[in-house]
Amino acid sequence: MDPQKFRPSSAFNSPHWTTNSGTPVWNNNNSLTVGVNGPILLEDYQLTEKLANFDRERIPERVVHARGAAAKGFFEVTHDVSHLTCADFLRAPGVQTPLIVRFSTVIHERGSPETLRDPRGFAVKFYTREGNFDMVGNNIPVFFIRDGMKFPDMVHSLKPNPKSHIQEGWRIADFFSHHPESMHMFTFLLDDWGVPSDYRHMEGFGVHTFILINAQGKETLVKFHWKPTCGQKFLLEDEAVVVGGTNHSHATQDLYDSIARGEYPEWQLCIQTMEPEMADSFEFDPLDVTKTWPEDRFPLQPVGRMVLNRNVDNFFNENEQLAFCPALVVPGIHYSDDKLLQTRIFSYQDTQRHRLGGNYLLLPVNAPRCPHHNNHHDGFMNFVQRSEEVNYFPSRFDPSRHAERYPIPSRPLSGRRERAVIPKENNFQQPGARYRSFDPARQDRFIARVADILLHPRTTQEIRRVWLGMLSQCDSGLGQKLAAKLQAQAVL
Ligand code: HEM
Repeated sequence: MDPQKFRPSSAFNSPHWTTNSGTPVWNNNNSLTVGVNGPILLEDYQLTEKLANFDRERIPERVVHARGAAAKGFFEVTHDVSHLTCADFLRAPGVQTPLIVRFSTVIHERGSPETLRDPRGFAVKFYTREGNFDMVGNNIPVFFIRDGMKFPDMVHSLKPNPKSHIQEGWRIADFFSHHPESMHMFTFLLDDWGVPSDYRHMEGFGVHTFILINAQGKETLVKFHWKPTCGQKFLLEDEAVVVGGTNHSHATQDLYDSIARGEYPEWQLCIQTMEPEMADSFEFDPLDVTKTWPEDRFPLQPVGRMVLNRNVDNFFNENEQLAFCPALVVPGIHYSDDKLLQTRIFSYQDTQRHRLGGNYLLLPVNAPRCPHHNNHHDGFMNFVQRSEEVNYFPSRFDPSRHAERYPIPSRPLSGRRERAVIPKENNFQQPGARYRSFDPARQDRFIARVADILLHPRTTQEIRRVWLGMLSQCDSGLGQKLAAKLQAQAVL
């Protein structure tokens, strides 16, 4: 091997201790002191290097989704979708693509319990031959808000109170009393759905609408769904208390153990599709991330399967340094005009540059598996061996050329500058229908969880009435039952 071209990991194999620079360490137990007791000499480089490394072991945790577990595996196409997309990794049944998945909770810290009521992240990085495709989804098919301008405020309201560092219902009730579009998400979060039993028994959703484009440039709107082959399971409150009280990492453990014993978790990938010309002809806006596409009108079509058959080799390298970004799509898949998705295209790469540094895509877990090349240069922690003398473009000395052109959405864009709410909000129809689909006991559990938030002593009468108004518009029976519950506590 060319000693000048080594990768750090390939040399991490000496039989004896060394410093980071490779000098042998003959005593890893005792500091270098004057006499047996000390003081310690500043020239004890071994000690200061060891402590300096330790002092820097932690990187900033993710601002959301800090708590998570990752696993590796593959995606295999099972159904031909080449009429819908020219995506290379979807080119034909049987094609396999390596991937890594990270499941997470959203609101609390890196070491928080995995039994909390919270959406779960469901993020998949496909290492395709045409670059990485990150499908950064959740376990709930809709979202709280539809405009990214509101995301930081929304997260602040759900995170602990900045004064007490305690998550408090009155702050959540207050913020969302201004956001009727969140009611649909709450019919998942405050339903039994809100505490999945573990990561294996969880559905996943791309949540946003994306665009598939085929080789002829034809566009199709699409939503992605992951269906676990072992079915979905949830924890009710008393079960969650026992599971979480026994092991605050139960979901990470379940994922790790099931893969270790060869019981590989598997999901089917399905899509719903819609012709873009149809998008204006429904009672809801299909690009609105607070809406689902009814499955009776837009049936689920199978595409492939994902199998997780390998645990991470190192949690820090493959979980903490793992960096997703919804902007990472591949030819044949494009973003829709969903405003929330458009905001995410900026936010993730920005946060990764803060969390991991400008060269975060060079880290092994994030780097493409396919050949790649450009003139993006240098910066902190650039450990890629580059020997070229031409780092500009165009150049008559550099044979690198443009890739072949691939189709992108061709619909003309026009409009005035606006800061506006979408015209077809339709905030209450889908949450109402979802509530009515619950059996009576499940409806009661949902109402009890809403009441729990509204009964917080600092939730005001005004806020309670706004929530009651919103939920009554979803379903009048729901409103009556909630009102009765609040009146029984004499808080309405
Ligand atoms: C404009 C709205 C949103 C913004 C600004 C936003 C921002 C962020 C940020 C800054 C992170 C931390 C990333 C990191 O440090 O690695 C994150 C993580 C994540 N977000 Fe969002 N987010 C938004 C909406 C959503 C939505 C709608 C979904 C689901 C469809 C989602 C799913 C996730 C997931 C799964 C992760 C964790 C990825 C991982 O496991 O590393 N986010 N988000």
